[in-house]
Amino acid sequence: MKHKAVNRRSVVIGIGVAAGAAATGGIALGAQADEAETSSATSGSAGSLTFDKDDYTELTATITTDTGDKLVKYHFYKAVTYVTKPVDEKYQCLNVSVPVEIDGTTVDATRAPIVFANSVGGYMPSSVADAEGVGGGGVTGGPGAGTPSGAPSASASSSAGSSDATSGGNAMVNARGGMVNLGKLGLAAGYVVVEPGARGRTLTDSQGTYYGTAPAAVVDLKAAVRYVRANKGVIPGDTDRIVSTGTSAGGALSSLLGASGDSRIYSSYLKEIGAAEASDAVFAAGAWCPITDLEHADGAYEWNWGTNATNSGSQVDRTVSKTLQAQYAEYQASLKLRGLNGFGRLTARNYDEYLLKQYLQPSATAYLADLSDADRTTYLAANTFITWSAGKATFTWGDFLTHVGARKKSAPAFDAFDLSAGENNEFGTGATQSRHFTAYSLKNDTTGVTSKRLDSDIPEKLDLMNPMYHLANKNPGRARHWWIRLGTKDSDTSLNISANLAAALDNLGDNVNHLYYWDEGHGSNIDAADFITWIAKVTGHRTK
Ligand code: DHB
Repeated sequence: MKHKAVNRRSVVIGIGVAAGAAATGGIALGAQADEAETSSATSGSAGSLTFDKDDYTELTATITTDTGDKLVKYHFYKAVTYVTKPVDEKYQCLNVSVPVEIDGTTVDATRAPIVFANSVGGYMPSSVADAEGVGGGGVTGGPGAGTPSGAPSASASSSAGSSDATSGGNAMVNARGGMVNLGKLGLAAGYVVVEPGARGRTLTDSQGTYYGTAPAAVVDLKAAVRYVRANKGVIPGDTDRIVSTGTSAGGALSSLLGASGDSRIYSSYLKEIGAAEASDAVFAAGAWCPITDLEHADGAYEWNWGTNATNSGSQVDRTVSKTLQAQYAEYQASLKLRGLNGFGRLTARNYDEYLLKQYLQPSATAYLADLSDADRTTYLAANTFITWSAGKATFTWGDFLTHVGARKKSAPAFDAFDLSAGENNEFGTGATQSRHFTAYSLKNDTTGVTSKRLDSDIPEKLDLMNPMYHLANKNPGRARHWWIRLGTKDSDTSLNISANLAAALDNLGDNVNHLYYWDEGHGSNIDAADFITWIAKVTGHRTK
C-alpha cells in the first residue's frame, strides 16, 4: 500500500532548527512556500497529501462493548503517509477506519466525530504501518526496545524508577494489556477512527543521530491532524470534531495537542517535514495518566510520593527529596491556580486537602458505593483507614499514601542524575542520546557532564512539550472539552500533575471532566464506555 519503510537520514531535527523555530515563531506559514515544498518532495508515495477515499480494504470486526459484542463492517485505510517530506514513513503514517455497517445496520459516518487515537507509550516510537485493522498500532520493538543502544541498562541504573521509565514502551504494553482500546470502541459507536504513528525518542539513523526526540512526536501528531483537516470533505468524518486520545506519554501528547492547537511555535518543524497547510487544532482531548509538565515533575513527585519508600523498601535521598519539594512549592505558587468548585488558590500546603476533597475521597466513595454490601464490608475490613459514614468515604492524606505503598520511581524521577530516565532520552539531540533538562539535575549530574548551564535549546524544547505553557498563554486555538483520568495508585508521576492541568483549563473556562479511578494503577481506563458517550455529548453527535 502506501507504506514504504524508509529511514531517510537527510532530515535531522537539531539544535539549529530549534533556534530557527523561535525566530520564525511569529510568522504565519505561507501557502506558496508550502506548495513549493510539495512539488519538491522526493518520496514517491509521500508527494501528495490528498486522501484517496477509494483505497481501502473492507474488514469486519467483532468488538466487545459494555452493551455486548458488535459486529462492525468498516473501511480500513492503511499506512497513509501524512507529510510530504517524511523523515521515516514507518512512523509518519496513519490508519483510518470508517464504519459502514454495525450489527447489520448501515452507518453513514460522513459527519461522525473523528477519534484521533495515538498509541504512544514511554515517548517511544509508535507505528501503525503493520496494523491489520483498527486498534493494531503500538510502540515498536520487542523486549528491550525501550533502551536505546548505549543507554544505561535497567539493571545498571541506580534509579529504580528511572530505569522503569527507560523501558517505558514495554512497561506500557504490559501494563495496558487489559486496557480497552478506544479506537475499537469508537468504531463500534459509529465514529471515524484515525490512528497516527509518530516518531519517538529511541530512533537513530545510520550515523547515530537521534531523529525522534522532542519535539518530534508532537510535531508528527500535529502533522497528522493537519492532514485530516486538509482532506475535509474527502476523508469521512467531521474534521471540525476531532477528539484526541492517548495514555501516559500518549496522554501527555494528547493534552499537548489539545492545549497547543495552531500554536506558531511548531511552524518551522511542521514546515520541515512538509505538513499540510491546515489547522492542527483539535475539538476535544482525552488524556489518561498524562506524564507531562516534565520540567516540574521531579518536584511534584517528591511533594506527592516523597515519604513513600521505593520497591526495595528504602527511602530516597532526603536532601534531594526536600530540595525538589521546595522547588515544587515555588512553582505551584507561581501557577496561581484556583482549585475546582471554589477551593481557592492551590498551594503546596493545601494540595493534599484539595486532592482528598476534590478527587480521592469522591473516588473511593464511588468505588465503595458500587460494591455489594458484602464486598464493601470486606473491603472496609481490609482497609480500616477509610471511614465509611452516611455513604461517604473519608481518610487522611498520610493514610492514603501508606495505602498506595511503594513509589515507582527514585529521585529525581524524571531528570535522573545519571541520565538514565526515558525523559533524559526524550530531550536528547543530534548524536547525544540523553540530556539534562532541569538545572538542579544538571548541577548534580553523575555522568561527567561538565557544562554549567542547560543547553540553550532546552527551554524552547520544554515549552514545545508542555501543555501548561500553552494554557499559561491562554492559547486561543486550544480544545475546549477535556476528559482527564488517572488511577489513584499510579505513581508514575505526581497525582497533582493532571489536577494542575485540569485546574488550568477550568480557570480558563473550559469544560473539564476529570476523575480519579480508585485503586487503579498506571494506564487504567475503566470507564472507556463513558468516554465514548461523552464524545457524543460534547460533539453534539446523535447516534441512530
Ligand atoms: C510512561 C511512563 C512513565 O513512567 C514515564 O516516565 C513516561 C512515559 C508511559 O507509560 O508512557
